[in-house]
Amino acid sequence: MATLLASSTAVGAGAAALQALTRFESLAYILAALLFILALAGLSRQQTAQRGNWMGIVGMALALVSTIAVTVAGDGAAVRSLVLIIVAVAVGASIGVWKALKIHMTAMPELVAMLHSFVGASAVLVGFTSFLTTPGDPASASNAYHLGEVGLAIFIGAVTLTGSVVAYLKLSGKISGKPLTIPGRNAINLAAVVVCVALIAWTVNTVGVGAGMVPLCLLTVVSLALGAHLVLAIGGGDMPVVVSMLNSYSGWAAAMAGFTLGNDLLIITGALVGSSGAYLSYIMCKGMNRSFGSVILGGFGSSAGKAQPGSGQGPSQQVGEHTETTPEQVAQLLGDARRVVITPGYGMAVAQAQYPVAELTRKLSAMGVDVRFGIHPVAGRMPGHMNVLLAEAKVPYDDVYEMDEINDDFGDVDVVLVIGANDTVNPAALTEPDSPIAGMPVLRVWEAHKVIVLKRSMGHAGYSGVQNPLFFNDNTDMLLGDAKASVEAIVAALPDAPGGER
Ligand code: TAP
Repeated sequence: MATLLASSTAVGAGAAALQALTRFESLAYILAALLFILALAGLSRQQTAQRGNWMGIVGMALALVSTIAVTVAGDGAAVRSLVLIIVAVAVGASIGVWKALKIHMTAMPELVAMLHSFVGASAVLVGFTSFLTTPGDPASASNAYHLGEVGLAIFIGAVTLTGSVVAYLKLSGKISGKPLTIPGRNAINLAAVVVCVALIAWTVNTVGVGAGMVPLCLLTVVSLALGAHLVLAIGGGDMPVVVSMLNSYSGWAAAMAGFTLGNDLLIITGALVGSSGAYLSYIMCKGMNRSFGSVILGGFGSSAGKAQPGSGQGPSQQVGEHTETTPEQVAQLLGDARRVVITPGYGMAVAQAQYPVAELTRKLSAMGVDVRFGIHPVAGRMPGHMNVLLAEAKVPYDDVYEMDEINDDFGDVDVVLVIGANDTVNPAALTEPDSPIAGMPVLRVWEAHKVIVLKRSMGHAGYSGVQNPLFFNDNTDMLLGDAKASVEAIVAALPDAPGGER
C-alpha cells in the first residue's frame, strides 16, 4: 500500500513538473516570437542591426531550450533523447560555425541557398514523419485537415529543397549558370503545380499508410522536379533574387512544418521568414526594374536577344573616346574638392577595397573634405552588400546615404568616385528605352562636376551586360586597375593631414 502511494505521489509530481514545463514553453514561445519581430525591426537599420541580431539569437536560444526541455521531459526515454539531441546539435553547430568562418562575403548567397535547402528537406521529412505517425483515419474529425497539411509541407519543402540545391550549384559554379529554356516551360511548371494539387487532394482522401504513401511519394517526386526546373530556367547571375525568393519559400515550408507538428512558434517564425523574404524579393525586383511575376515563374534573366544579365560580358562597344587618369591626379582632385561622394558597387566587393576606401575617407575628412557614400539598393550582389562591407571597415553610418537621400545632391558635388559600380550609375537606364536596364532607378553621378570611375578594363560591362555611356562623358575620367590597388595608390599620393592622419 505504502509503495503504491509513493509511486502515485511520484507520478503526480512528474505530471505537475511536466505541466509547469509546458507553461514555461508557452511563455518562452511568446517571448521568442516577440524577440523575432524585434530582431527583424532591428535588422532594418544599420545602426540597430547588431542589436537585432542579438535579439534573434536570444529568441532562437529560448525557443530551442524550451522545446528540448518539454520534449525530453515528456519522453519515456528522456536521457537517450537528450543525448541524441545534444549530439545532433553539436554536429550541426560545428559544421555551421566552420562554414560561416570559412565563407567569403561574396560567396554568402551560395551559403544561404544551401541553408534553405536544409529547411526544405526538414519540411519534407517532418511531413512524412507526421504522416507515418498519424496516417489517414476517417474516425478522426481533423483527418482531411491533417493530411492536407502533410501534403502542403511536402510540396513546398520539396520545391525549396531542389530549387535551393540548384541555386547553390549555379552560384558556386559547380554547374553551368546558363538558363535551361525548354520550350513551353511555363506550361510545364503550371501543369506540375496542377498535378501536385491533385495529388494532395488524393492524399486527403486516403485511409491508412499504404494508401496514402502512393500519392505522397508521387507528390514528392513531382515537387522535387518542379523545384529543380524552376531554378534551372534562370540565368546564374540572377540567382541572388532567386535565393531571396527561396528564402521566402523556406519560410512557408517551415510554417507548414509548424502546422504538422502543432508548433505555434514554428508557424510564426515561418510566416515571418516567408513574408519578409517575399517583401525583400519585391524590393530587389523594384530596384532592378524587373517583374516580380517573372521571378516566381522562373523566367527571369533568360529573355532571348537581350544581353545576358550576370555574365558581365555583354556588348561593350565604345560609345566615344574615354579619358584615363592616374592615382596622383585623382589624389590632387580629391584634395582640392570640398564635397566628395563615393558610390561603391560590386567591384569594391570583388577587390575587397573597403578598407583602403575607409582609410581614404578618414584622410579626406581630416583634410576638411566632406565625404559621403551613395548606396544604390541593389549595388553588389545581395541586399545591403555595400552597407555590410562599409560597416566592416568601420565607415561611420552617418556618412552612408541611400540613393533617394543623395540623388538630388550630385549637382553640388565636386568629385564622385565610382568604385566598381557600373549598372547602378548607368544613365542609359533613364535615356535608352530599349536598354535591358531601362527604367531601373540609378545614381545620377554624371550631374557632379567631375566623375572618376575605378574599374579594371574598358572591355567588361556590368552585371546587366550593357555598355555604360557614363565612361565616355567629358566630365568622366577612368582610373583602370584593381580597385584595392587603385585606392591604396590614391591614399599614398594624398598629402598627410596636419594632425599626422594617415
Ligand atoms: P555591376 O554592374 O555588376 O558592375 C561591377 C563593376 O565592377 C564592373 O564595371 C567591373 O568592371 C568592376 N569590377 C569588377 N571587379 C573589379 C575589381 N577587382 N576592381 C575594380 N573594378 C572591378 O555592379 P553594380 O553597379 O554594383 O550593380 C549591381 C548589379 O547587380 C545590378 O545590375 C543589379 O541589378 C545586379 N544585382 C544586384 C543584386 C543585389 S540584391 N544587390 C542581386 C542580383 C543582381 P571590370 O570587370 O572591368 O573591372
